[in-house]
Amino acid sequence: MKVLIVGSGGREHAIAWKVAQSPKVDKIYCAPGNAGIEEYAECVAIGAMEFDKLVSFAKEKKIDLTIVGMDDPLVGGITDSFEEAGLRVFGPRKNAAVLEGSKAFSKDLMKKYNIPTAAYENFDSAEEAIKYLETTDYPIVLKADGLALGKGVLICSTFEEAKEGVKSIMLDKQFGNAGNRLVIEEFMTGREVSVLSFVDGKTIKTMTSAQDHKRAKDGDKGLNTGGMGTFSPSPFYTEEVDEFCNKYIYQATVDAMAKEGREYKGIIFFGLMLTDKGPKVLEYNARFGDPEAQVVLPRMKNDIIDVIEACIDGNLNTINLQFEDNAAVCVVLASDGYPVSYEKGFVINGLENFKNKDGYYVFHAGSKRTDEGIVTNGGRVLGVTAKGSTLQEARKNAYEAVKWIDFENKYMRNDIGKAIDEA
Ligand code: AMP
Ligand code: GLY
Repeated sequence: MKVLIVGSGGREHAIAWKVAQSPKVDKIYCAPGNAGIEEYAECVAIGAMEFDKLVSFAKEKKIDLTIVGMDDPLVGGITDSFEEAGLRVFGPRKNAAVLEGSKAFSKDLMKKYNIPTAAYENFDSAEEAIKYLETTDYPIVLKADGLALGKGVLICSTFEEAKEGVKSIMLDKQFGNAGNRLVIEEFMTGREVSVLSFVDGKTIKTMTSAQDHKRAKDGDKGLNTGGMGTFSPSPFYTEEVDEFCNKYIYQATVDAMAKEGREYKGIIFFGLMLTDKGPKVLEYNARFGDPEAQVVLPRMKNDIIDVIEACIDGNLNTINLQFEDNAAVCVVLASDGYPVSYEKGFVINGLENFKNKDGYYVFHAGSKRTDEGIVTNGGRVLGVTAKGSTLQEARKNAYEAVKWIDFENKYMRNDIGKAIDEA
């Protein structure tokens, strides 16, 4: 079969790598892709938001299955466009991707269906929001309603700070229209865990857990980023936590969406906070995490095509989803200055060191092929993943493998997986 993957990050590289393992697949295309994805797929210069062009391409090439990796096209309705053209596509429709696309929607859904989450209020007016902030405890959390590249969340320690935050989100439109509405949420403390799942409209099957490191600097300092590294599984995601989430969160979310007439087929990514009052949902995403996918997919035993087809056909209950009994760590190599400003265009050396090395992977996030070779082309440049029989071993292997790669302005966190030692 012929598969088209939509996206261009490390996540899509990990998806392309996994799809390429399937004996059912003869040909992979990726739009727009990147220099690393080229190893498995023919990359085509069509943007992820160019739905008409993507649909025409899929028809012309007789694509059997399109897998959408990114949030923006899903929230924008790419699945609806493909389905209307009679094409097979994996990812929630627009009316279901709103689970990620609107934080106000997802909070209201959780409230209505008693799914554990932080207390909150939604606001359409900056004035009302500021009035409310005079009455709350601090710290407090402000969230732009819409998609904001993972940056639309502000944690404010004082009323003054929160007032400035409301102004920048709602009046100055720091995140554009994503800030037309605002969620103000209770601040929670605890460990964060990412649990990704496959959903077929009725049945949900969760994958192995992972933990991201969202801040730019060691010790969880600095600005929020798309994610600087991950490990899987999370030792804090115990059987007891899993049992709780199965009972009150996972199936409850799928059922709630169905009851709302928003049948959910695709990936649901549960961002969880393990608080002292039990696990609570921080956020939902409508796609694989990046860089969660880079540690979860290398540990997945199933043929991903089988699982995706079962989701589309509504028979996920027949799939026995299995993961290797080992661990993986991904360290992101970024351009120094990310997530604010950084230079691009530096030659990346050492990529060949990953050839034929079992259990080691280099997933490209922001790279480009030029006459001089493959060069840096983004804030997050590469994700270096290594497996090990334990988390400690995987971490040691990953930090060994990052030394194989060299480029000017290479920046990484040195404490990815440090939390493992506290488990
Ligand atoms: P989100 O995009 O909603 O996952 O938020 C981004 C990050 O902000 C999360 O990964 C948390 O680290 C933090 N965060 C979000 N909501 C809360 C909250 N209610 N309490 C504490 N931290 C939060
Ligand atoms: N790593 C977090 C995300 O993909 O949203």
